[in-house]
Amino acid sequence: MTYKVRKALPEDSAAIYSVEKAVTTHPWSEEQIREEIEFPQAYTCVCEADGLIVGFATMQTAAEFAGINELGVLSEYRRRGIGRMIMEDLLRECASRGCDHVSLEVRRSNAPAKNLYRSFGFSEAGVRKDFYRDPQEDALVLVRNILMLILGIESSCDETSAAVVRDGREILSNAVATQIAEHRLYGGVVPEIASRRHIENIIPVTRQALDDADVGMDDIGAVAVTYAPGLIGALLAGVSFAKGLCYAAGKELVPVHHLRGHVASLYLTHPGLEPPFIALAVSGGHTHMIKVSGYTSFEVLGRAVDDAAGEAFDKVARTLGLPYPGGPEISKLAAEGDPSFYRLPDPHTSGEFDVSFSGLKTACLNIVNTAAMKGEEVRRADLAAAFEQKVTDILSRRLISAAEEYGLPACVCGGVSVNGELQRKCSTAAERKGIPFYAPAPKLCGDNGAMIASAGYYEYAAGSRAGLDLNAYATLEI
Ligand code: KG4
Ligand code: ZN
Repeated sequence: MTYKVRKALPEDSAAIYSVEKAVTTHPWSEEQIREEIEFPQAYTCVCEADGLIVGFATMQTAAEFAGINELGVLSEYRRRGIGRMIMEDLLRECASRGCDHVSLEVRRSNAPAKNLYRSFGFSEAGVRKDFYRDPQEDALVLVRNILMLILGIESSCDETSAAVVRDGREILSNAVATQIAEHRLYGGVVPEIASRRHIENIIPVTRQALDDADVGMDDIGAVAVTYAPGLIGALLAGVSFAKGLCYAAGKELVPVHHLRGHVASLYLTHPGLEPPFIALAVSGGHTHMIKVSGYTSFEVLGRAVDDAAGEAFDKVARTLGLPYPGGPEISKLAAEGDPSFYRLPDPHTSGEFDVSFSGLKTACLNIVNTAAMKGEEVRRADLAAAFEQKVTDILSRRLISAAEEYGLPACVCGGVSVNGELQRKCSTAAERKGIPFYAPAPKLCGDNGAMIASAGYYEYAAGSRAGLDLNAYATLEI
């Protein structure tokens, strides 16, 4: 069944009246409903299930204030996300009318409705005594700022980042302090150094994110922080800071899984993109084929059985004497190479959407060692090109076949997804099969706070909160 929310038309009033009669004890007349639909300061929307009106909502707006009068869904269509779709539509309309705040009343005993509103960030502003009749009951007055700003904090590896994102989609600021130059001296990330730098950088970076967005902590709706997976000391720097900040500023804390953050980088780049889709998350620590069924609902279809894609790039780069991080270096060198000079093996995996890169990495190492033993020069650019070609072939083929099998759009995300070869192959293969393909903007592929704020918005909307006992975890399933 397909559901669609749209603005109501005067000719919908009879259908709305029949829904209203079913969901409320004191329905308006059809004529009143028609007047409301036509009244410019009001807004009525309906939800259609295969063309049949099964839910509706009305609100009135006056300058910066909006008040939701009613939101009703036929009982047999409840628990299908229709209330959420309607609320999203109302909030969009509020924003487009320039409203700052929206309020509504709800029966004190109506737990499902209260949960829905709370998940949208509504909070209790007061009580209207005996507001409802039949049965008589108090109304809780709930309010929400139209703009929900989330402060996102990321410190799982070698980037300290903080960002302010509006409603999960619009970046107001994204401050990143990278430690790459320092770790490069050691050929990779040194965890102890990473933790120390995060501690030094986290306050200035957060301050910068707030300044760049021109907001203060008062304007922030909630704080989202990466709590897993990653380097444990690095994660703890962000988590501890976020807890202190929430305690001091009286804000709610939302825990975010790092890979969910990478997936959310797609929402920041493509305003119309919504689940479901297939996301191939490729980073230094992960290569996961993920079925994204909803904003907070994920299923891992396959993964790297040994080295992650980024890790393989980094290790092969080191073999070729290239600096850390190896991905961009290999990519640069590969551009001048001939990918057909060296033949690399086709790795075998048992899972349909699993991948394996350690055999490729070993093959590259053998080529370099054999050349050294024979006193020959390795054709570095050719080897880089052969390696990049193989890895991107494997990843793009797997992604497109997963998207095809599930009949869903294909997406890439994560640090490796910035790779031009990978994006080119995925988009060509997708186009050939008529599958939509999406990648994050280049600056959102690597680790950043904005993707954590975006994921945090959707986690917040789904009701996820952490207390001050939140811990960090080096490994955790998405
Ligand atoms: O997502 P990310 O910034 O950090 C983790 O969560 O791991 O990913 C970093 C990884 C590194 O392994 C880096 O070598 C790789 O992304 N990478 C690339 C490219 N740029 C960065 N891999 C291939 N091609 C690139 N252009
Ligand atoms: Zn990452």
